[in-house]
Amino acid sequence: MNVLTNFDQQTAVSMHGPLIHHSSRVYPEPWSFIPERWLSSPPPAGLPSRPPNIPQANPKYLMPFSRGTRNCLGQPLAYAEIYMTLANVLRTFARLERDDNGKVVGAKGMTLYETDRRDVDMKSDMGFPAPEKERGNTRLILE
Ligand code: HEM
Repeated sequence: MNVLTNFDQQTAVSMHGPLIHHSSRVYPEPWSFIPERWLSSPPPAGLPSRPPNIPQANPKYLMPFSRGTRNCLGQPLAYAEIYMTLANVLRTFARLERDDNGKVVGAKGMTLYETDRRDVDMKSDMGFPAPEKERGNTRLILE
């Protein structure tokens, strides 16, 4: 690792969520959607286990709400809103498909509408990750 040592005392040093979240040294395959990386192994009772070939992600480096003394004041409220909204939308509209062992293999009831990777991939840095111009809406058709 290259470490810069020749700093002037007045040099401002900062870090940045998107750069850390997409560092493959911190999170392997950072651009891939691998939610299983957040599961623990062994799992808490009733929850699925992380597959052994997937390394456990370290939440120490997860900082969408920033870190330190000036981190987001609304983080608990934001999490509550995200959990309640997602749970309500999924419980109302998603119909889970299971295999013979009861394992969830897919979901029906929600289809992406005029939405693709261009709406979610980071294209520029506005202090937060932003998609390409004129994109960024995630739309669903709910059955
Ligand atoms: C997913 C939702 C949210 C994300 C990702 C988020 C993210 C952030 C981030 C990264 C910062 C630090 C900005 C900086 O370094 O200058 C911040 C600050 C802040 N956020 Fe949020 N935020 C969210 C929701 C909310 C909500 C719901 C509230 C209030 C109801 C809120 C209130 C604040 C406040 C007051 C600060 C400034 C804290 C300070 O400077 O001491 N945020 N937020």
